[in-house]
Amino acid sequence: MRKPIIAGNWKMYKTVGEAVNFVAAFKEKTAGVSGVEMVLCPPFTALAAVAQRLAGSGIELGAQNMHWQPEGAYTGEIAPGMLREIGCKYVILGHSERRQYFGETDELVNKKVKAALEHGLTPIVCVGERLEERESGQTEAVVRRQVEGALAGLASRQVAGLVVAYEPVWAIGTGRTASAEDAQQVNAFIRSILRRLFGDDAADAVRIQYGGSVKPGNAAGLMAQPDIDGALVGGASLDAASFAEIVKNSAPAEE
Ligand code: 13P
Repeated sequence: MRKPIIAGNWKMYKTVGEAVNFVAAFKEKTAGVSGVEMVLCPPFTALAAVAQRLAGSGIELGAQNMHWQPEGAYTGEIAPGMLREIGCKYVILGHSERRQYFGETDELVNKKVKAALEHGLTPIVCVGERLEERESGQTEAVVRRQVEGALAGLASRQVAGLVVAYEPVWAIGTGRTASAEDAQQVNAFIRSILRRLFGDDAADAVRIQYGGSVKPGNAAGLMAQPDIDGALVGGASLDAASFAEIVKNSAPAEE
């Protein structure tokens, strides 16, 4: 069974003080939750303080981006080993905002995915079509190109440990969620690509999240789909109460 993974992508929100307050509240609200992995992805400046407050809580830490080189003259960039040292387990790569505003290509995302794996970080690889691509029937072609590009040259055992996030761009920050059925359809399509390229074991093990206007009220319906193994949450992850609700609504029912 794939354990659901709910990650909060804080984007460019929260000072260190705000992040620390969030963690205190969130830990309290999720105490006793089991069967679901929780990840917080604060901005770089808050990683150290959040890492310290998460120690021993079972809640994992992730970054939102990184450079692909181990070190070097790259002003303003952060290297994979720096993220490991500070306690990150995950790193979000290829988010649509990175692709849109910072020119990230599938080739660049592929370099970052390989670098993350070399340094013991688990990538959360983001893919998803834009509105005009969906409306012109290109969703599968776009998602296929992004998945194949981001994961080119990886071994099956590496793919098995990955997280992929399907985030339709038109659903991000718009309040317009993909229906659970639409999201399931694309997530299943992604798994079929992985099955063809990397085999059954990798395809069955990889966790595929949905992201785009996930809220406490729609989380359970999304999570009930067979190929949706978690959520990547933006806006609703900024509030401890709403993010804790999403986590609780995503936890598997008690046996
Ligand atoms: P929202 O949840 O705000 O739509 O953002 C989704 C997202 O981009 C997470 O990475």
